[in-house]
Amino acid sequence: MLLDEGHPAAALAQCSAVLAQDGANAEALALLSTLTSHLRGDPVSPGREETAQGKETAEGKEATRGRETARDKEATGAEKTPNTGFDWRAAEKEVAGIVEPALIEGPGADHETERPDVTLADVGGLEDVKRRLEMAFLLPMRNPEMRRLYGRSLPGGLLLYGPPGCGKTFVARAVAGELGARFHAVALDDVLDVWTGASERNLHEMFEIARRNAPCVLFFDEIDALGQKRAQLRSNAAMRGVVNQLLTEMDSVKSENDGVFVLGATNHPWDVDTGLLRPGRFDRLLLVAPPDAAARDSILRYHLRGRPLEGIEMARLVERSEHFSGADLAHLCDTAAEQAMWDSVRTGRARPIRMMDFERAFEEVKPSSGPWLQDARNVVMFANSAGKFDELLAYLRQRGMA
Ligand SMILES: Nc1ncnc2c1ncn2[C@@H]1O[C@H](COP(=O)(O)OP(=O)(O)OP(=O)(O)O)[C@@H](O)[C@H]1O
Ligand SMILES: [Mg+2]
Repeated sequence: MLLDEGHPAAALAQCSAVLAQDGANAEALALLSTLTSHLRGDPVSPGREETAQGKETAEGKEATRGRETARDKEATGAEKTPNTGFDWRAAEKEVAGIVEPALIEGPGADHETERPDVTLADVGGLEDVKRRLEMAFLLPMRNPEMRRLYGRSLPGGLLLYGPPGCGKTFVARAVAGELGARFHAVALDDVLDVWTGASERNLHEMFEIARRNAPCVLFFDEIDALGQKRAQLRSNAAMRGVVNQLLTEMDSVKSENDGVFVLGATNHPWDVDTGLLRPGRFDRLLLVAPPDAAARDSILRYHLRGRPLEGIEMARLVERSEHFSGADLAHLCDTAAEQAMWDSVRTGRARPIRMMDFERAFEEVKPSSGPWLQDARNVVMFANSAGKFDELLAYLRQRGMA
C-alpha cells in the first residue's frame, strides 16, 4: 500500500521490520525484490508508476532531486558506495516522518512499554554493580547457547536494593537498553485493586504485556510492598492472592518465554516475602549503594549541564558530596543554582553559579541515606539470614558502620 502511495522507502522500512523478525517471510521477500528494482529505477508495473508520478509531494520532489545528485556523483566517480541512484538521505527523512513507530516495533508493541536509550555506559561509576549485572544477568541473557551449554536454566529475576535515590530504577532501564529490550515498569498502583481477583488479573496482564513485547524487561518497583511478608498479610487475603499470582507468573516466565526478563527493586529487601526470594524467582540480590566518586562525578555533570558556571572545581564537589544519593546531588545542584539566581536578582546583575553557591548549598543539603543505613545495619547485624546481605555487610564495614 505504501508503495502504491509513492512511498517506497517507507515500504522498505516496513519490509525490513518484518524480515528482522521473520527472515524467511515469503511475502516480505517478494515485496523486497519488487522494492529493490523499483528503487533502482527499473521499470515497474504501469499502475504503480502512474500513482507514484501522479503524486507531486515534497518527498517525491526531494527523491527526484536526490536521484539527480546521485547520478551527478556517479558521473564524476566521487561516490564509492554502490550507487542505486536512490537518495537514502531523503528517504530517511521521509521514513522518519510517516512511519508509525508501533509498526516498526512489531504488531504487539504496547504504549505502556518504552525502549530506553540509556545503557550501562550512561550509569556513572558503580563498577561492581555493572560487573555483577554483566555476569549474573546480561551475559546469559544475550547468549541462549551459552546457557544451554552450561546447563543453566533461564535465571530468575534479579532484585536491586539500596537506599532511595541511588539509581535502582536508572540501572534497570539501562539493563533494558543494554539488551535492546523494551522496558515496562510496573507501579504497585497499576496492579493492586480493591476488588477481589482484580489485582491478580492485573498482574497477569502485566506479564502478558511483557510477553507480547518480548524482548522486554519487566520491572517491579517497590516489590516489598507487593510481596510483603506473608505473615504480615495473614489478615489480608487479597494481598496474599497477589503474592501467589506473582510467584505463578514468574515460574511460567521461565518455561514459557525466553524474552521476558524480570527485575525488581526495593528499598527494604528484608521486608520482601521470602517466597519471592526462592531459586528461580528473585533469587539474586544486588546492592545499589550510594554513588561512588566516579558516579557522583557523572551525576553532578549531568545536573550541571546547560547551566551557567564559573570556576567550578569538580574534584572538590565530588569529594565533599560523599554519601550523597543521586537525588541528593540533583537537589544540591538545584540549591546552588537557586543561590546564584537570587543573588543575581538581588544585585540586578546576572552571574554564573560559583563555588561559593555550592558552599552554601552544602550547608543546606545533607545525605539522605542515613536512616536507611541505620535500618540496614540493624538487619545485617541481627538478622542476616543465610548471608543474604553479605554485600551490604561489606559496604557497611567499609563505611565503618559494622
Ligand atoms: N550511577 C548513576 N549515574 C548517573 N546518574 C545516576 C546514577 N545513580 C543515580 N543517578 C541519577 O539519580 C536519579 C535517581 O535515581 P533512581 O530514580 O534510579 O533512584 P532509585 O534507587 O530508583 O530511587 P527510589 O528508591 O527512590 O526509587 C536518576 O534519575 C539519575 O539521574
Ligand atoms: Mg526507583
